[in-house]
Amino acid sequence: MVFISEITYTTSCNFLKEKLPEHFHNVRLGIICGSGLGGLVDTIEQSSKVEFLYGDIPGFVTSTVSGHSGKLVFGYLGDSRTPTVFMVGRIHLYEGYSPQQCTFPVRVMKLLGVQTLVVTNACGALNPEFKVGDLMVINDHLSLAAVTAENPLIGPNLDTFGPRFPPVSDAYTYALRKLAFRAAFETGIAKDDIREGVYTYSSGPMYESRSEARFLKSIGADVVGMSTVHEVIVARHAGMQVLGLSLITNPVVVARGKDAKKEVMTEMGIETVVDDGVDTELIKANHEEVLEASARRADDLQRMMTRFADLWAKEQ
Ligand code: HPA
Repeated sequence: MVFISEITYTTSCNFLKEKLPEHFHNVRLGIICGSGLGGLVDTIEQSSKVEFLYGDIPGFVTSTVSGHSGKLVFGYLGDSRTPTVFMVGRIHLYEGYSPQQCTFPVRVMKLLGVQTLVVTNACGALNPEFKVGDLMVINDHLSLAAVTAENPLIGPNLDTFGPRFPPVSDAYTYALRKLAFRAAFETGIAKDDIREGVYTYSSGPMYESRSEARFLKSIGADVVGMSTVHEVIVARHAGMQVLGLSLITNPVVVARGKDAKKEVMTEMGIETVVDDGVDTELIKANHEEVLEASARRADDLQRMMTRFADLWAKEQ
């Protein structure tokens, strides 16, 4: 395994600082825009905007997924004109990158001054009460990969960022979760359209099998995505406060599916057995549906995030 050294992070940060105007040398708010949510950067004060393609920044790998274009954007967000850095397009494990490569930008954000990181994502609902289009403030995460073997902190500890054994039992800052709900209600999001719950992830890129989905649901996850957790681990290790926000773009198939044996026995007259299984062919997840659902809710989420930035700035 190849681990990224401290100098690589500082080189990247220095490259950005050389090119950035003075007022972005100490940005304190960072936002990672999930699938289809990059439109948030269109709401920032356009004259203040400074952009870098990932491919031009030393140490960054490029994002290869449609709907995630891959640029780091600096700008003023909201009425408070909060200097903010946005990752438009995140780096995923399923693109073939290591957890450290995926989270490289998070540590660079830390070096740029970011104290609060907002991670947004699209996800599927395991909890049957959650509907497509609902938002979910992440209360906690559940990472089978991080618990067992694969996480970005494996390797030599970089003490300048944080300790060898960081806790993540408080990963999602309570005060920020409260601010998120306040921002949602103040911008007109109905109380039944925003939830709080547990996020889990699979490496992807395939969506879960039905049994995997039932398993994840049974161990306590409300939603499942393909990202976020490793970014949060790195951010918490470096002492940043974190807000996680999920947009539910599809129900996850947890039904058992049709029973082939029962159907054949009935067809052949061996025995008539009623099959109440669901035809799961009809409810498969797909990337287009995820992008469509994100697009439908993007404006609300953008309004909420802008309000969140203003509430956050007031408390600094
Ligand atoms: N599973 C995993 N990741 C996702 C999903 C899903 O159903 N929807 C959006 N991202």
